[in-house]
Amino acid sequence: MKLQVRVIYLALWMVFLLVFVRVDFRFGFGDFVDVTEPVCGCMSCIMDPQEDPWFMEHYDNRVPKLMNRTNSNFSALTYNWWMSLQRPQSLNLSDVVEPLFSLFRDEEHYSDSSPDRCRTCAVVGNSANLIRSYYGAMIDAHDFVFRMNHGPTEGYKRDVGLKTTHRAIYPESAVDLDNSTHLVLLPFKVLDLQWLISVFTTKNITRTYTTVKPTINANKDKVMIIHPEFIRYVYERWLMKNGKYPSTGFIMLMLALHICDQVNVFGFGASADGRWHHYFDHWHRPSIHAGEHRGGVEYDVILKLEQQQRIKMFKGW
Ligand SMILES: *[C@@H]1O[C@H](CO)[C@@H](O)[C@H](O)[C@H]1NC(C)=O
Ligand SMILES: *[C@@H]1O[C@H](CO)[C@@H](O)[C@H](O)[C@H]1NC(C)=O
Ligand SMILES: *[C@@H]1O[C@H](CO)[C@@H](O)[C@H](O)[C@H]1NC(C)=O
Ligand SMILES: *[C@@H]1O[C@H](CO)[C@@H](O)[C@H](O)[C@H]1NC(C)=O
Ligand SMILES: *[C@@H]1O[C@H](CO)[C@@H](O)[C@H](O)[C@H]1NC(C)=O
Repeated sequence: MKLQVRVIYLALWMVFLLVFVRVDFRFGFGDFVDVTEPVCGCMSCIMDPQEDPWFMEHYDNRVPKLMNRTNSNFSALTYNWWMSLQRPQSLNLSDVVEPLFSLFRDEEHYSDSSPDRCRTCAVVGNSANLIRSYYGAMIDAHDFVFRMNHGPTEGYKRDVGLKTTHRAIYPESAVDLDNSTHLVLLPFKVLDLQWLISVFTTKNITRTYTTVKPTINANKDKVMIIHPEFIRYVYERWLMKNGKYPSTGFIMLMLALHICDQVNVFGFGASADGRWHHYFDHWHRPSIHAGEHRGGVEYDVILKLEQQQRIKMFKGW
């Protein structure tokens, strides 16, 4: 063979070997360190590994998120903390768990994280910074749209969208839901669980510490109950026990952070003129739920999450 032919032949072999070895190396390496294997199917995922000790110190995906029949025997720590939020009462948690899960499904939701999946979530708060934001179409394009309490869509389509896959409520904030919307109960007391049972059965609970709706329109098969252990985790790990307990909006944002691959946050924080009111409060009266927990602490965590590129914030104009 001529020298040139040999050189070309050798060069081709080198290229082949390089490609081959590289591929081999990639696979071998990926078994030990998660660098090549994608965490989810999105362009970027919440759980993408990156140099971020702050996030890793706080984030724990093993905490139960939803209550079910088998995980409703709370740890003593959670039980005592949860009971300390409520007035002393004769209701017994173990007495409501059985009726609760004979009525509602207790299947495991959201355990299908996979490299092929890209679940996008919009967490929509009630801040007035949504007014004239034109975010409606963008919000509706997400797989999941989480809304809180009263936050209406009718009449606000342009700015907040129409889609609601999940709505977080508690007895005192309950509203009617569409048949396709998940009712996400945030239980702050045993009575809240009893109320939920009553909503779909006897409809005879009309008071907690205030008057509540005895029943609402909602799909019984789409009921989900946030686990008090999750609320405690959010309160202790993420808020460092600031305030009494986390707000509805913050709990839902945290839930999204633990079950979605991408989280976009709308309607959180003050409006551009620095006020804290709801997008649906026309007279700019101060927000009704402003008391207990509208701390800067929650907002600081949200800003930090954005800074670390775990979430995206949309704050209006
Ligand atoms: C109940 O929730 C736990 C996580 O907290 C989960 O491991 C278990 O599979 C769930 N049980 C059912 C029946 O869905
Ligand atoms: C709940 O857990 C406690 C200990 O944490 C145990 O003694 C008790 O038997 C459990 N109850 C049920 C119904 O599993
Ligand atoms: C709650 O129920 C359990 C089992 O039914 C019982 O052992 C316990 O004493 C009850 N606690 C209260 C405060 O009634
Ligand atoms: C709501 O959806 C359930 C299935 O999840 C169905 O059985 C029920 O008939 C629906 N109700 C209405 C009013 O559409
Ligand atoms: C509601 O009705 C149930 C069953 O009829 C009864 O056991 C319960 O005590 C009632 N609760 C209230 C608050 O009236």
